[in-house]
Amino acid sequence: MPTKAIDGQFYLEYARRLVEDLLDRYLPPETAPPRKLHAAMRYSVMAGGKRLRPALTLAAYRYCNRDIDHPLEQIHCAMAALEMVHTYSLIHDDLPCMDDDDLRRGRPTCHKQFDEATAVLAGDALHVVAFELMARTGSIRAVNELAEAIGTSGMLGGQIADVEAEGKALSPDEITDIHMRKTGALIRASVRIGAILADADEKTINKLTEYGEKIGLAFQIIDDILDIEGDQAKLGKQVGSDSKNRKATYPGTVGLETARKDAALLIDEALTIVDGEDDNLLKYLARLIGQREK
Ligand code: IPE
Ligand code: IPE
Ligand code: MG
Ligand code: MG
Ligand code: MG
Repeated sequence: MPTKAIDGQFYLEYARRLVEDLLDRYLPPETAPPRKLHAAMRYSVMAGGKRLRPALTLAAYRYCNRDIDHPLEQIHCAMAALEMVHTYSLIHDDLPCMDDDDLRRGRPTCHKQFDEATAVLAGDALHVVAFELMARTGSIRAVNELAEAIGTSGMLGGQIADVEAEGKALSPDEITDIHMRKTGALIRASVRIGAILADADEKTINKLTEYGEKIGLAFQIIDDILDIEGDQAKLGKQVGSDSKNRKATYPGTVGLETARKDAALLIDEALTIVDGEDDNLLKYLARLIGQREK
């Protein structure tokens, strides 16, 4: 692991700017046809967002002894790909046939700003560009990692289970399983891909996998909590979406108090997994997830 400490806040801002630049570079220009589709892709991707997944990728890469000031192009492609896949999942998640939400990243959702057909296609197109970018890393393992994370055993499997669970009472194990798939799988893959592209040994990859699983689950538990007691202005999305849709949620299953405790425990466990200097970036990002209000 790296010996030189970086301030977490500084890193986050650095990573955010880098990701914005990469996205702008790799997205098709709005002036090129099909203009409306390109405009919709850019509208949702360039709307801000925490850029957490690519920040995790770069932090994991650094954790595996890579110099992030002189990174290889492949890590940049992977970072942009992960954010594009994530944004595609948000566009589709907000559609009337899914969660039917009107606000995302502080703006009208893609289907509200454009129309449903454009939103479906913008999501599809982002999905495609993401795989083109991941292929440019030259790492078949990284491409496969992304495919598995978002396929039917990962994010998409979790999303359909989430829809099917509407109006139902689930056990704690069942809701945990949904959350690990619909949200945890991509977060875990974001960490793993950073390690894979850094040529880390399997022991380190396994350790980071465990870290990714803990923060991924905590992330969605906290998302459910914020849907109940968060501040819409900070979140940039409507609160109360889950109850409107009669979603099965983590706090709905175990209660708010236990949900808070379980999330905090997961973050603590993640912190103990990534040893090293006190302020290493993966620790900073885990704490940030634990304390987030947006
Ligand atoms: C929202 O993800 C969707 C979930 C998986 C809960 P984020 O909270 O990371 O959304 P952005 O990228 O910051 O907008
Ligand atoms: C979304 O979960 C998970 C994915 C997009 C894959 P939510 O439906 O809880 O996310 P938000 O609350 O709309 O951001
Ligand atoms: Mg949803
Ligand atoms: Mg949603
Ligand atoms: Mg939510």
